[in-house]
Amino acid sequence: MKRVSLTLVLLGTLLGFSGAAAAEPGCIPTRGDYLGPFYISGTTEGEELNRRGRPGEPLLVTGRVLSAAAGHSALAGARVEVWQTDGAGNYYPEGSGDAADYAPEELDLRGTLTTDGSGRYRFNTVVPGSYFPRPRHFHFRLSAVDHKPLVTQLYITGDGSLQQPGGNCRHAPLIKTADGYLYESPDIYLQPVE
Ligand SMILES: [Fe+2]
Repeated sequence: MKRVSLTLVLLGTLLGFSGAAAAEPGCIPTRGDYLGPFYISGTTEGEELNRRGRPGEPLLVTGRVLSAAAGHSALAGARVEVWQTDGAGNYYPEGSGDAADYAPEELDLRGTLTTDGSGRYRFNTVVPGSYFPRPRHFHFRLSAVDHKPLVTQLYITGDGSLQQPGGNCRHAPLIKTADGYLYESPDIYLQPVE
């Protein structure tokens, strides 16, 4: 009897957890997230985000941008703006506005990418650090023809990501490589305009 009760408790816990996850909206389209106070428009284009050797473990981030419409076609030519902290949790700069408002040396770990014909993007950076009370995260702002712009954040598996709104759809593990780490982003789905 005791064993049955324990099983039921465990089952309840598991169901409770799955129930919470199932209560989240679906993963398509990708859920939006806070813009945060440190978005800067007009950042440099290119795959190297850590242009000034900011501290942190080397990281390659890869991902895809897809349409949330039926068929989920890859969105070629989508604009992907990214910003994040260094390994110690610092933004460069801790400010907002436009890149033209800052000296080039003030801007780092930020960039703008364009997806290729398969909707793919990639960039070199460092593993972001956490800053209280947030788990580590990457900020994204995406736009593509015939789709609604999206501001979202991606998280690292096991790093408090499941506690974020819609976090069960927006996290991936850090994978150790010979050169540092690899983060294969969850696919990002943009909602088509009506
Ligand atoms: Fe942030």
